[in-house]
Amino acid sequence: MNNICRIKIMSIVGARPNFMKIAPISNAIIKFNESNATETIIDHVIVHTGQHYDAKMSTMFFVELGIPIPDVNLEVGSGTHAMQTSEIMRRFEPVILEYMPDVLLVVGDVNSTIACTLVAAKIEYPKDQERKRPVIVHVEAGLRSFDMEMPEEINRILTDAISDILFTTEAAGNENLLRAGVAKEHIHFVGNVMIDTLLAHRERAALSPILANLQIKPQQYAVVTLHRPSNVDDYATFGGIMSSLNEIALDLPVIFPIHPRTKKRLAEWQIFCSDAIRFVEPLGYIDFLKLVSEARIVLTDSGGIQEETTVLGVPCITLRNNTERPVTVTDGTNHLAGVEPEAILKIVNQVLTNWQKPDKLPALWDGKAAERIVAALASDVLGRRS
Ligand code: UD1
Repeated sequence: MNNICRIKIMSIVGARPNFMKIAPISNAIIKFNESNATETIIDHVIVHTGQHYDAKMSTMFFVELGIPIPDVNLEVGSGTHAMQTSEIMRRFEPVILEYMPDVLLVVGDVNSTIACTLVAAKIEYPKDQERKRPVIVHVEAGLRSFDMEMPEEINRILTDAISDILFTTEAAGNENLLRAGVAKEHIHFVGNVMIDTLLAHRERAALSPILANLQIKPQQYAVVTLHRPSNVDDYATFGGIMSSLNEIALDLPVIFPIHPRTKKRLAEWQIFCSDAIRFVEPLGYIDFLKLVSEARIVLTDSGGIQEETTVLGVPCITLRNNTERPVTVTDGTNHLAGVEPEAILKIVNQVLTNWQKPDKLPALWDGKAAERIVAALASDVLGRRS
């Protein structure tokens, strides 16, 4: 027993897409500790920045995905980018100094990701501590849209630049990091933790009553999600996208779980919406998974949904000009449509009339990414200690 070695990992969550990424990592840590395979115990501390705070954008996911209640909630809330990022940094600094984790683990590309990474990269633990600062680990590293207008692209580039260990989901991520000068030994291609969560909950989702509740039938509706500022904060772009959705809804009812940002804009600008577009509140994970898996087609500007539809074998029309997840196009069901109504309608039409499900899946999207991450961390972080 004397040889037991403890590693403290602090994980950051803040916004909705972070929760499905942390859930499998939390489970894999519990499994690792229970396995007794090594003489290492991982203590897991979860910090919620409070970037998303509505029950439907946050709490619901902790309950559904069995994520432990966060040890700390910074309750930062909404604001401009600078306000939100700086407020997270200000509130996070005393927390990291209190817990002094060996590892800071961040996921994805939201403001909480870069804010906490930046704090950790410059923190100085007291001199009597074994390490000067935590090892910084970025999960879902290396993705690039090459579109600097996207706040997430800035967050990705900066987070990767100051992380010590980079876990990637697809080959393009490895290439982007190598091109940016990251040493090969710091990059680990482990697969996709978001897909771990999808595969773990697929059977449970099959039992969701969401289709009956909405009185819709499999394959007889489209699902839409939209929330990117470039799409919904620009009147002409948002109006154009909504006009194409009105047209699609003439043939196929559209179910639109609406993000708070999008709801605000729709009300403010009073954009015309067909009665065949059904707006519903943001859904929980299980209901949304069921809704997407039975859809005829999905139209979205989300990153994660491009990946989920690829694994579910559902055609996805991405309402953007680029994707940071190119494997969903080459090996998956994703089609980039841009935001012009004619282009959107043309691709939707093509997919509805003539579409073949690809017969392969991206490499390592097999439900085991979180296990690989935890195993790699246990050996890498211990290696750095000796
Ligand atoms: C953030 C992420 C984005 C991610 C998205 C998922 C950044 C830069 N963006 O965008 O990458 O895809 O989360 O949703 O980090 N609001 C509520 N309740 C909430 C949260 C937000 O009403 O619980 C409203 C607020 O008015 C807020 C607006 O939504 O101003 C936008 O929230 P914010 O966290 O700033 O960015 P998202 O658009 O959600």
